[in-house]
Amino acid sequence: MSQSSNSDARLFVALDLPSVAEAEAMVAQLGDAVESYKIGLQLLPIGGVDFGQRLKALGKNVFYDFKFHDIGATVEKATRSIAGLNADFLTVHARPDVMRSAVVGRGDAPLKILGVTVLTSLDRQALLDIGYADTAEDLVMRRVEQAIAAGIDGVVSSPLEAEAIRANVPDGFCVVTPGVRPAGADKGDQKRIATPSAALKSGASHLVIGRPITQAPDPRAAALAIVAEMADV
Ligand code: C5P
Repeated sequence: MSQSSNSDARLFVALDLPSVAEAEAMVAQLGDAVESYKIGLQLLPIGGVDFGQRLKALGKNVFYDFKFHDIGATVEKATRSIAGLNADFLTVHARPDVMRSAVVGRGDAPLKILGVTVLTSLDRQALLDIGYADTAEDLVMRRVEQAIAAGIDGVVSSPLEAEAIRANVPDGFCVVTPGVRPAGADKGDQKRIATPSAALKSGASHLVIGRPITQAPDPRAAALAIVAEMADV
């Protein structure tokens, strides 16, 4: 379902920008190089949902990265609200009751629910600091099992865990990886990272890439280089 041979629907560009106006300008600049966008916590409170609806009207795929984490009744109702918007992806934290409630709230809508396993900015020490004794790898696999049991559509995880996840999930299960950095790009605050081709080879179904594209001197050229690298896998 490629809109142009320049683009790859598996690449979600994270529009982590200060305003909707700047995000709209970025989308215009990227043009037909990008057909899928992730709108996250920076824009969602300031018009990001309406902006996502405008992207849908342009034929783009839209991923609302809300990372819901609340009591079941609230998650169910919030997911129902998003399911009514014709969005493509929604994230919730991969806690069993949260995931089950999101599935109920989604109902028959085509919205795919993704569970956030372990944030890619958390390494072993960061997990210990917040009281998790499991290694990131063990915690990810525990949450993947719980995601399958809850009936959601996939998980968000570091590319470093994608291979182990792919080996343990049903066909069609989405493995969406942020923490992707083209060779030589700045890591930013990401710790568990891989290149785009390595992430896909490991079993990622979709890539989420933000700053390596949006902060590049030429964002469209950066996106096209990533699309070309993805085509070679
Ligand atoms: O700029 P960068 O490529 O690091 O952006 C990664 C995006 O993916 C950010 O929007 C971040 O919130 C999101 N994300 C992540 N790790 C997760 C889930 C989402 O980095 N586990």
